[in-house]
Amino acid sequence: MKTHVSTTINGEAVEFLCQPRQSLLEILRDELSLTGCKEGCNNGNCGACTVILNGLPVDSCLVLAVEVEGANIETVEGVAQQRQLHPVQQCFLEGAALQCGICTPGFIMTSKALLEKHPAPDEEEIRFSLAGNLCRCTGYDKIVHAVQAAAESAPAPK
Ligand code: FES
Ligand code: FES
Repeated sequence: MKTHVSTTINGEAVEFLCQPRQSLLEILRDELSLTGCKEGCNNGNCGACTVILNGLPVDSCLVLAVEVEGANIETVEGVAQQRQLHPVQQCFLEGAALQCGICTPGFIMTSKALLEKHPAPDEEEIRFSLAGNLCRCTGYDKIVHAVQAAAESAPAPK
């Protein structure tokens, strides 16, 4: 039997039907065509599936879809606004902080959530926050530098 779930994804009301065993990752990719979040390990180890759930980065492969009733979800598809890349996206691009790109949506979402909570993190805080995101290509220095650059490019709080 399927369960009806009402949620908000990237600012829009979204409803879907899901089986109790289905993960949020499955629903996002297979039912809602939001394929930006990637399936790497499907067991909570790689972070490729990271989305922001009620302000916190989570591995969507570990969240049951039935758990997101009433939740606010952000995926990488909603990060750019009016065709303008988010500073984190822009800095990943300019800093060549990606190669194959499989891990990149997860890093973008984790970094965005970090900067929303801590607009000026130091390197240790960035590395700690990104510890749950794995990259097999780029190495971590360029990624950390991109997040630092994004933090520095953000307008000063009023
Ligand atoms: S696919 Fe979810 S943590 Fe790897
Ligand atoms: S860019 Fe390929 S896994 Fe990170």
